[in-house]
Amino acid sequence: MNYRQLLLLAAVFLPFSAADVGTASSYVPPYVPTNCFGNDTSAFPADASFAAAGAAIWDNGAACGRKYEVRCLSSDTPGACVSGDVIVMVTVVDQAARLGSQQSAAAATMSLSETAFRQIASLDAPAINIEYAVL
Ligand SMILES: *[C@@H]1O[C@H](CO)[C@@H](O)[C@H](O)[C@H]1NC(C)=O
Repeated sequence: MNYRQLLLLAAVFLPFSAADVGTASSYVPPYVPTNCFGNDTSAFPADASFAAAGAAIWDNGAACGRKYEVRCLSSDTPGACVSGDVIVMVTVVDQAARLGSQQSAAAATMSLSETAFRQIASLDAPAINIEYAVL
C-alpha cells in the first residue's frame, strides 16, 4: 500500500471512528426546569428533538448544548427501530440522573425526548441500542 492509498483509507474510515455505541431511553414531560438551563427553554431546538445526558456523556455539565446524531441499531423489543436507517439530531438540554420526570429505562447513555425517540424507534421500546456521534 502506498502513501496515497493510506490517506484515502484514513479519509474513508476516520469519520466512523467518531461514532460510539450506547443505549437510549425516552423521557416524558415536564421537560423543564432542566439541570442545564433551569426554566430557560431558549436552548431547546424548535423541532423538540432533545436529550438528557446519561453519566457516560454528561461530562460534568459540559454536555449541555452539545448536538448528537443518533441512530437506532437494535432493541430487545422486536422491530423497535424504524426502518430506513433514520438519524435524528438531538441537543442535550438536561442531565438524565436529575430529571423531573420518569425515564423509560435507567442508566442509558442518553434519554431522548419522546419526539426525538419516536423518529428512530417505537415508543413501545423502553430502551434501544444506538450509534451516536457528537456534531
Ligand atoms: C422554575 O420555575 C418554577 C415555577 O415558577 C420555580 O418554582 C423554580 O424555582 C424555577 N426553577 C429554576 C431552576 O429557576
